Amino acid sequence: MIELVNVEKTYSSQKGDTTAIENINLSINDGDIYGIIGLSGAGKSTLVRCINLLEQPTKGSVIIDGEDLTKVSNKRLLQIRQNIGMVFQHFNLLQQRTVEDNVRFPLEIAKKHKSKEAKDRVAELLQLVGLSEKAKSYPAELSGGQKQRVAIARALATSPKYLLCDEATSALDPQTTESILELLKKINQSLGVTVIIITHEMKVIEKICTKVAVIDNSHIVEMGNVSDVFADPKSEIARQLIIPDLIRATAEKTGDIKLRLIFNGEETDKPLISALALDLGVSVNILYADTKHYNGKPYGHMVITFPDSDEAYKKVTTYLTNNHVAFKKEL
Ligand SMILES: Nc1ncnc2c1ncn2[C@@H]1O[C@H](COP(=O)(O)OP(=O)(O)OP(=O)(O)O)[C@@H](O)[C@H]1O
Ligand SMILES: [Mg+2]
Repeated sequence: MIELVNVEKTYSSQKGDTTAIENINLSINDGDIYGIIGLSGAGKSTLVRCINLLEQPTKGSVIIDGEDLTKVSNKRLLQIRQNIGMVFQHFNLLQQRTVEDNVRFPLEIAKKHKSKEAKDRVAELLQLVGLSEKAKSYPAELSGGQKQRVAIARALATSPKYLLCDEATSALDPQTTESILELLKKINQSLGVTVIIITHEMKVIEKICTKVAVIDNSHIVEMGNVSDVFADPKSEIARQLIIPDLIRATAEKTGDIKLRLIFNGEETDKPLISALALDLGVSVNILYADTKHYNGKPYGHMVITFPDSDEAYKKVTTYLTNNHVAFKKEL
């Protein structure tokens, strides 16, 4: 388990101090695929680099499996780091080394590269990431997606329990992104590695994460299960990141009553909109809809409008309440 307690990082320079993250409290459970999302400059990279102490926090504790990394010796820190793999946006491969020598590199640092096991480990990792036939190639001979696969294999060489990914798919096209996310999911499920994913793209979170923390302006403004945050983002920044179209829909001036319906996993077996129109006789328009099913249950939002009258408002809201659909009146 990874626990960040009141973590703060302030960079000092001649131009003054920059507090990149402040008051960060976060728990990441073993087995999670934990997403951290935010805009550029929000503090995401700083946060993830504090997890393996590539950045020394100015304040607070970083506790991994009960041990506070800010308090251990350098020697111990190096040991702990072998348990935390890291993958970067620009792959950071060693250009003069072949694919297999890149993957072997962490084993060399750990002085475990000479054994037969090390050789087998490299072959096994290349197979895991689907690059066995590129073992003797150099990074320059690979596509972006292949480079990231090598970087992932390298990050896993010392069999870490945790894998940190800082914008690991940001330099890749959508299709390659999908395949790398699939690989990360496979690593999580088959090897039990806890994966922490930093991104500015909601689709990355949506695709594989179980938990999410939203970071804005150095602070965590929202966190929880992806399905809950997705269904009802509370902070303005989460709303912007998750459903930019919803913002436009709710801002549109129509003169009608506008309700945002929030589907939060409650079963809705009835055809809601047609029931409003046919059973209640209220002529409802859908201004926006983005609902998805997770484990067979509906999540997401719909914005509906109907002509402004107290009677219609009462009818519709009573109907929604009786059918366990949460709603919010938008102005
Ligand atoms: N080494 C550094 N020295 C001084 N300031 C820094 C340093 N690293 C980051 N910062 C500042 O800290 C803030 C957060 O930066 P950080 O790199 O963590 O953001 P980010 O969310 O990862 O952004 P991006 O999505 O662009 O990668 C920024 O204002 C940045 O300028
Ligand atoms: Mg960054």
